Amino acid sequence: MAQQDDVFKKIVSHAKEYGFVFQSSEIYDGLSAVYDYGQNGVELKNNIKRYWWDAMTLLNENIVGIDSAIFMHPTIWKASGHVDAFNDPLIDNRDSKKRYRADVLIEEELAKMDDKVEKEVAKARKRFGDNFDEALFRETNPRVQEIIEKRNALHERFATALNDSNLEELRQIIIDQEIVCPISGTKNWTDVRQFNLMFKTEMGSTAEGAMNVYLRPETAQGIFVNYLNVQKTGRMRLPFGIAQIGKAFRNEIVARQFIFRMREFEQMEMQFFVRPGEELNWFAKWKETRLKWHKALGLGDHKYRYHDHDKLAHYANAATDIEFEMPFGFKEVEGIHSRTNFDLSQHEKYSGKNIKYFDPELNESYVPYVIETSIGVDHMFLSVLCSSYEEQKLEGGDTRVVLHLPAPLAPVKCAVMPLVRKDGLPEKAREIVNSLKFDFSTHYEEKDSIGKRYRRQDAIGTPYCITVDHQTLEDNTVTLRERDSMEQKRVAIDDLHKLIHENVSLNALLRKLG
Ligand code: GAP
Repeated sequence: MAQQDDVFKKIVSHAKEYGFVFQSSEIYDGLSAVYDYGQNGVELKNNIKRYWWDAMTLLNENIVGIDSAIFMHPTIWKASGHVDAFNDPLIDNRDSKKRYRADVLIEEELAKMDDKVEKEVAKARKRFGDNFDEALFRETNPRVQEIIEKRNALHERFATALNDSNLEELRQIIIDQEIVCPISGTKNWTDVRQFNLMFKTEMGSTAEGAMNVYLRPETAQGIFVNYLNVQKTGRMRLPFGIAQIGKAFRNEIVARQFIFRMREFEQMEMQFFVRPGEELNWFAKWKETRLKWHKALGLGDHKYRYHDHDKLAHYANAATDIEFEMPFGFKEVEGIHSRTNFDLSQHEKYSGKNIKYFDPELNESYVPYVIETSIGVDHMFLSVLCSSYEEQKLEGGDTRVVLHLPAPLAPVKCAVMPLVRKDGLPEKAREIVNSLKFDFSTHYEEKDSIGKRYRRQDAIGTPYCITVDHQTLEDNTVTLRERDSMEQKRVAIDDLHKLIHENVSLNALLRKLG
């Protein structure tokens, strides 16, 4: 675990050093849980968004996009339940004055118990060597059984307390488990209180009587309140979907793990409207479709798993997360939810407007059911960054840091480098840049030795480096170096476009999805 922590620290500093992610307002000592994307980060992020957007809107003729405003009528958040129930249970330690999420403290306790089991298993594996039967050990070892029993009992107690929103019981669990504050080391806890996560601001001048509005905590509601506009103006028939990418804001109390828990972040959400009764079939279909989208990137199929929700939100009749193995464990990247007709029915009730869909085939009107796919751009960004980072030992004792980014997502697709800064090589290299730049993000690099220039491009994940040398002037060929294999081959300048396009185009990735 300590080793994984080190790797994660290195990834965070690499992200800063190479212009991917900066702490927001850094020269003013930063703003907690808010980040800025740098020159390479924004390109990677845009490519992730483009991959998602095209997979939704190009590959599905019944999905269209919208871009709704961040500010919405405040009653929308009353109708959706966010005003009353979008809360985190908070607890303070009186000695350190630090504030924690009570549920997170208990989840960490559960994770510690899981770790204990894994340690026992690892010790036994070492002791028994090749003869080790792991499944039998887990089932029969008294120490492991004891930990698992305690863990399951705690989990059940915790889930019941959460389901009942029983704040006293959450506190009692913290006391009974003897959980201490990591800063003060004491158990001097306050009561648990609910804290609403929405940011509130005012619209209009106070003289006119300003109205309280919220920064949206999810993009989904902008889709719900527009569903009939889109259905009517786009003459859409059920089933159909509306996709949207945009910023969301949550006043997260515990800021953790770099861009994993942010106060301002970005979501890519798609609401798919279906006939009542058909929602669970569509839920299964979208679960599969979305996992395929993730796996097509080639980050490693074993790094994904589904996590079905034990506790369903009151409006959902099925929900699962797609989790990805980050350096700090499996974490949610995307949620897929069957949200029934809750949101639309609530908006019908609160707005007083009829927002039923008329189904010409059934000749009846009803409020559609909704399957939602909701993915955090920043979580996706982090999963791509973490799984691409490698400190590689090379032959001869040298090392390099390389980002094995999926080529279609890489911020820079190719870098063109004159071997020396004379003899007409820079001019020839510029000519190549000018022919490639219309289709690929292309860098021109002439400073430092060629080896250093390769390393710089490896560090930002550039799939191809093109070196122009004296032979180029004679026969119009260049050296094409591939990032992962570091293989170099001589190719004709005329073939460059085709060779690069084959691997870096989003098109090839989308074709994998069918
Ligand atoms: N409309 C449903 C919805 O918002 P959610 O599970 O709360 O569901 C969806 O959020 C996704 O948004 C998550 O899977 C995660 O990737 C991302 N997300 C949520 N809170 C976040 C935060 N504080 N920082 C970064 N990403 C976040």
